[in-house]
Amino acid sequence: MEFGNLTAAPLLEVEGVSKHYPGVLALDNVSFSLLPGEVHVLFGENGAGKSTLISLISGAIHPTSGMIRMRGEPVHFASVNEARSRGVTTVFQEFSLIPTMTVEENICLGSEAVRRGMIDRRAIRSEVQSVLARLGFDLPPHALVATLSRAEQQMVEIARAFRGDLSVLILDEPTASLTDKEAERLFDLVAHAKAHGVGIIYITHRLREIERLADRITVLREGKNISTVPAHGISEDRLVKLMSGREMGAVFPAVTHRPAEPLFRAEGLTTRSGSVRSASIEVRAGEIVGLAGLVGSGKSELIRAAFGIEPLTAGRVTLNGQEITGARPQKLLDAGLIYLPPDRRAEGLAMMRPCRENLSLPALRQSPYRRGAFIDRRAERRETNRLLTEMELYPMRPDSDVEAFSGGNQQKVMLGRSLTRPFLVYAFDEPTVGVDVGTRAAIYRFIAGLCESGAAVILISSDLPEILHLCNRAYVFAKGQVTAEVPADQLDEPTILKHFFERENAA
Ligand SMILES: Nc1ncnc2c1ncn2[C@@H]1O[C@H](COP(=O)(O)OP(=O)(O)OP(=O)(O)O)[C@@H](O)[C@H]1O
Ligand SMILES: [Mg+2]
Repeated sequence: MEFGNLTAAPLLEVEGVSKHYPGVLALDNVSFSLLPGEVHVLFGENGAGKSTLISLISGAIHPTSGMIRMRGEPVHFASVNEARSRGVTTVFQEFSLIPTMTVEENICLGSEAVRRGMIDRRAIRSEVQSVLARLGFDLPPHALVATLSRAEQQMVEIARAFRGDLSVLILDEPTASLTDKEAERLFDLVAHAKAHGVGIIYITHRLREIERLADRITVLREGKNISTVPAHGISEDRLVKLMSGREMGAVFPAVTHRPAEPLFRAEGLTTRSGSVRSASIEVRAGEIVGLAGLVGSGKSELIRAAFGIEPLTAGRVTLNGQEITGARPQKLLDAGLIYLPPDRRAEGLAMMRPCRENLSLPALRQSPYRRGAFIDRRAERRETNRLLTEMELYPMRPDSDVEAFSGGNQQKVMLGRSLTRPFLVYAFDEPTVGVDVGTRAAIYRFIAGLCESGAAVILISSDLPEILHLCNRAYVFAKGQVTAEVPADQLDEPTILKHFFERENAA
């Protein structure tokens, strides 16, 4: 892999930058440089300061001290738009789209083509179509962003970045919700931008992406730049050690499946939107069952429909033989089913409420939270601390609003909810999006533990290794239908991929 242009003058220099928040030093005297034509990866645990660093560079927030130079000149971007007008464009971890506007409007926001003082709709349309085609993203330009899935919104966010003139491109976990196929296209575009001298700052927790894309890697830990190293030939172990300061064992635990009686059944489900068509799955107590497929294949929609979030037009859902079709989410929680959605911002967490309240939400009606007509705040506090310890959440700040948490830590708070009390059926939808390697291992151990204690676990994931290592069986989805049920002894990558593009012959 070539190494950018090491003799070239840096495109961007960050010098001794610090950022204080009340009670937190998010960045501590960090220096960093970006060369033209290099992909510079920022790597570090959840809460290490990666997003804070790029927010400073992109003009979204301002440093407490230190300075930023672009091509040798000090710059102070007052806003993200000002940075963008200077060629510094960012794809943020938490999207900045306007949900009530269309895909097309969002992509062009702030820089619409104008003709004779009027917005030129035709020019906008053709420009948007060309950028979507270049990216190979299959998105309807007229759809309202609010109606899109998280992965589709990520695509809109990316398309917007690739539209303008670029000098510096910043990508904060751009593939978090994408499957490999969609991510491939993005990698091609990154390579293309790089060949044209664009400097790219790339945040990812995925070691495979680092191997594939990175020229240099800067490791952050607790707000400090621990080290900047050439990517070529660096081992995973070394990187993880730099990141966490310690050795780490295997990411995937060995899972003992003891499939017993079928607990959860969805039979012939069809959604009103057509996203799922006569799909059936069955999950037994004591096993983890994977749902695999491309974005929009119906893997997530099936569970959402079964769990009362999307309307059904046909089919039956049963728990332990009892029909629960069409029951409301609260009723399903009480019956012992919990669904952990992939979009922690839109439907998972109340961002402006404290961590503690977010955690206790599904269990407030029960002991130890409930005492008579009141909520026992002492018990709530105690429980919260227990859950946060179990989720290994650092820094532990139960009373802060989750808005102030790093992306990966928000994910932990959401998963912590499923620990408030035992459930019979757990459905995890992309549970490791945006979490660091150490946390990923902790989440896998946690899911394996649920299965071993006899729960039925459903794992919806675009991350194939996750499905292959953790599941007892998997269902593959394509175009709203189940195209295959893959048993344990055939659970390998080629078998699953083969079914990604198939359609079931007859329902
Ligand atoms: N608006 C804010 N108010 C208070 N603290 C904040 C705010 N934004 C970030 N922080 C804190 O700053 C630290 C760094 O957060 P940052 O989001 O940069 O982490 P990160 O490296 O991007 O993590 P992740 O991998 O989870 O996305 C964290 O402790 C976080 O809680
Ligand atoms: Mg982040």
